[in-house]
Amino acid sequence: MKIIVASDYDEISRLAADRVAELVRQDPGAVLGLPTGSTPLGMYRNLIRMHRESGLSFKNVTTFNLDEYVGLSPDDENSYRYYMYQNFFNHIDIQKQNINIPDGTAEDLEQECVDYENKILSAGGIDLMVLGLGNNGHIGFNEPSDHFPNATHVTELDDSTIQANARFFESIDQVPRYAITMGIGSIMRCRKILLLASGNAKARAIRGALEGPVTPLLPASILQFHPDVTVILDTDAASELTRGV
Ligand code: F6R
Repeated sequence: MKIIVASDYDEISRLAADRVAELVRQDPGAVLGLPTGSTPLGMYRNLIRMHRESGLSFKNVTTFNLDEYVGLSPDDENSYRYYMYQNFFNHIDIQKQNINIPDGTAEDLEQECVDYENKILSAGGIDLMVLGLGNNGHIGFNEPSDHFPNATHVTELDDSTIQANARFFESIDQVPRYAITMGIGSIMRCRKILLLASGNAKARAIRGALEGPVTPLLPASILQFHPDVTVILDTDAASELTRGV
């Protein structure tokens, strides 16, 4: 694991965007795995700027989003599809047919999960997966549990995740209880992983993920077993690390 402690959120965002841009320049047909949430917003802003100012092209890039709420229509402002178009896809030259986001309104959700995993395989797997980190150590919506789920699946959100994500909704009752998420296996099969974390609320989970025992009670700890992980965090998120970086 390579651990980079940035001075602040802006530096995390710049460094993360640089990694993505470097890959896309080397391999214009790269396959990216992408997260939503607050953490990657600065990275997306930097990538949009690079697209506008230095011609970084996403024309042949394929993307797979990590997760989507169950039951929110694609034009619902809180759906992850809406977020991705608003914050990234509408501002770059990616082709619509190369964008993949689980459909949380599919009639047969189990089939949607199987199809999504197969699409990842057909694309040749994911070259670079960008991850945020839940306060409870989740990656994607793989919540703390007694096992590591393998493939894309429907999951019930943890109470702490519902509380953390309520900030985006009018009331906590509107936060969906279920989501489709890539599994831990789907994430571990990605060739490279970039984990981003900012702020004190992530410090405990970062310590567990980087220094704790590998346990499904803190799903991100599995990343210790991945051969190519870079973690970019700020000093607040790094504040509980004991071994020094
Ligand atoms: C989002 C996702 C989640 C978030 C995590 C952190 O697609 O999969 O795991 O990355 O909940 O969210 P923020 O960045 O809002 O703190």
